[in-house]
Amino acid sequence: MTHKSSRYTSRRFFPSAKQSRGSASAIAARTMLISRLELKNWRNFRHVDVPLRTRTFVIGANASGKSNLLDVLRFMGDICKTAGGGLQKAIEDRGGLTKLRCLQARTDHEVEIHVEISKDADSTPIWEYTLAFKPEGKGLHRVLVTREIVKRAGRSTPVLNRPDIDDKKDVLRRTQTAIEQINSNSEFREVADFFRETTYLHLIPQLLKHDEIGARIAEGDPFGQGLLQRIAKTPKPTRDARLRRIAQSLAKAVPQFDQLKYEQDKNTGHPHLLASYQHWRSHGAWEREDQFSDGALRLLGLLWMLQESASLLLLEEPELSLNDAIVGHIPLMIDRVLRKQKAFERQVIVTTHSKALLSNPLDGRAILLLQPTSDGTVARVADDTELKLMSQGLSPAEVLLPKTRPQDIDQLGLFA
Ligand SMILES: Nc1ncnc2c1ncn2[C@@H]1O[C@H](COP(=O)(O)OP(=O)(O)O)[C@@H](O)[C@H]1O
Ligand SMILES: [Mg+2]
Repeated sequence: MTHKSSRYTSRRFFPSAKQSRGSASAIAARTMLISRLELKNWRNFRHVDVPLRTRTFVIGANASGKSNLLDVLRFMGDICKTAGGGLQKAIEDRGGLTKLRCLQARTDHEVEIHVEISKDADSTPIWEYTLAFKPEGKGLHRVLVTREIVKRAGRSTPVLNRPDIDDKKDVLRRTQTAIEQINSNSEFREVADFFRETTYLHLIPQLLKHDEIGARIAEGDPFGQGLLQRIAKTPKPTRDARLRRIAQSLAKAVPQFDQLKYEQDKNTGHPHLLASYQHWRSHGAWEREDQFSDGALRLLGLLWMLQESASLLLLEEPELSLNDAIVGHIPLMIDRVLRKQKAFERQVIVTTHSKALLSNPLDGRAILLLQPTSDGTVARVADDTELKLMSQGLSPAEVLLPKTRPQDIDQLGLFA
């Protein structure tokens, strides 16, 4: 690799392959998935209790809470971060507990998160992690852990069960979770690794295109600003293999698409992606990434990021800026790239409100429906009738999407 770039290649943003390979528990963390999520008073959800699968599509209208639902998993990742992590910081970063706790919460002001982690969606959990917290009251603005419990399959007693005697002696201990502390999470480090390795992606093509030197890249690069640098920094054989998988996957969805290649500008040293199309006018001509359509760039970013790690991926609205014909292929493209990479088990949770994305048959059990009510949003999986309709050939768009429409909005004709 000859590309020498400034701050983009700092370890903080782009952990090297060696680094991210990590400990044995980190490796184990990648072969697990979140199989159930239970929440109390989290943002616009008063109560949630839903199963999750290897691919889960969270569908709901605007402001129904799709991003809020993903945020609980980002929150867990933030708590478990090795540098600058922790419960207090994760809450602070979200504007404090009052922003985070459900406004519809009535007498019970505690926020609770319960996550089950399994080998696959249908097996019993290996780990159960529960965290509950609330403000201390008495004018102090501290948030205190009210419960933190870790259970492991095969163990009759919890691995961790707080508050314990020490917590009672020293209330300050309850400002921290055990999972954020190396000294107290040794027995369930695998769970901390799992949460920490979660990737969140909300690709913004403008940022991918005009990646100005010196522009600050958000931590973890959720918006894809550093995509070209990431590609540049990847060792050639891996880079070529990834680009090849992307090209194969794109070719199925974009009929004129021909080839994809990486090049480093000889004068400036800047990395570039080039694509060619089988088109009579542009045959043989290469298009550079700043000429790509926004949608194409987002799709490339997504297909690249799918291959960068094997841990939980949270993906926001992949349909944006893409035409419907391509959007319909997104679930298949995700599967195809992961299968070729032998990482088919990687859990991907996708938020969407796209009719096109949900127009092809999907496993009906993989869909999570968000329905706003005056009392917060309700999250649920498809019921037996809906599952039956989908197994008979109706698409999730036909069966489920109409149910995500906020009541009364039809009369306005907004979505007509
Ligand atoms: N603590 C909270 N209690 C109740 N509602 C909240 C809370 N925090 C955010 N919201 C509401 O959640 C909605 C935004 O949800 P969001 O996840 O961004 O929706 P989506 O991603 O589906 O468009 C907004 O209407 C906002 O007012
Ligand atoms: Mg959103």
